[in-house]
Amino acid sequence: MSGANSETVLVTGASSGIGRELAKCFAAEGSRLVLTGRNTEALQSLADELHRTHKVESFILTADLSRPETPERIFQELQGRGITLDVLVNNAGFGAWGLFAGLPLQRQLEMLQVNITALIQLTGLFLPGMVQRRRGGILNVASVAGFLPGPGMAVYYATKACVLSFTEALAVELAGTNVMVTVSCPGPTITNFGQAAHIDKAERKIRMLRMSAEAVALHGLRAFRQGKVVAVPGLQNQLLIFLARLVPRSIIRKTTAKFNGI
Ligand SMILES: NC(=O)c1ccc[n+]([C@@H]2O[C@H](COP(=O)([O-])OP(=O)(O)OC[C@H]3O[C@@H](n4cnc5c(N)ncnc54)[C@H](OP(=O)(O)O)[C@@H]3O)[C@@H](O)[C@H]2O)c1
Repeated sequence: MSGANSETVLVTGASSGIGRELAKCFAAEGSRLVLTGRNTEALQSLADELHRTHKVESFILTADLSRPETPERIFQELQGRGITLDVLVNNAGFGAWGLFAGLPLQRQLEMLQVNITALIQLTGLFLPGMVQRRRGGILNVASVAGFLPGPGMAVYYATKACVLSFTEALAVELAGTNVMVTVSCPGPTITNFGQAAHIDKAERKIRMLRMSAEAVALHGLRAFRQGKVVAVPGLQNQLLIFLARLVPRSIIRKTTAKFNGI
């Protein structure tokens, strides 16, 4: 694999949305990419585009992170090919809109697996090498949802709270190691997320507030390069989090329920 700089970056969920744009941002810096997701065709088309536009090589790894064995398989695959990872971007994730009691439990458990367990497992597999080499870092994608309780998407909001808390704690533990860890917390963003989560009602309300996946990705990359721990793209999202700290929690959860259309 070759690229203009000597860095290798793995992006989970690179087949669409924010992950796809993050891969493009890293490629624009000259990084080599390891692109993962379930949609091999979309990953291949991104790899071709990155080669055409930025002359960087990508390695495609079709991987379903809802399967518990996948993180270890990714780690072994890269080790077997002699690929040393400098940056891990834990971006893959999905939500499910509806009342918890009415949603299929299996889907919610898969969400925990993809949004939390796989993210923590991949971190646990790749981080020790980074610390040993005193080089590299991790960029996790959480959400403004991580700052709020989320009736109507209860499990999703809880998974993002976990990612936010985990990353903040890691950042302190990693002080002095030269390994960076950043959590990006986007608000509503134009991607396939809403369609996958079936959140048409809430989406209609916030259409005007949505950011482009490109802007969100660029903000996340810049924050990571600057060594910021928590990165919230967009003034409207920063304001939301600021207000959420001032307003009583009982009001916040009712407001979020209305916002989520339940
Ligand atoms: N869009 C928003 O409003 C918003 C706001 C805040 C945070 N986020 C977060 O941003 C991240 C990216 O989402 P997005 O908005 O870009 O949505 P998206 O366009 O639906 O992209 C989701 C990505 O996750 C991957 N993914 C989903 N399930 C997977 C699985 N079982 N195994 C492996 N990969 C899987 C998908 O790849 P395959 O389908 O190829 O598997 C896809 O590349 C997520 O963590 C999401 O929670 C989104």
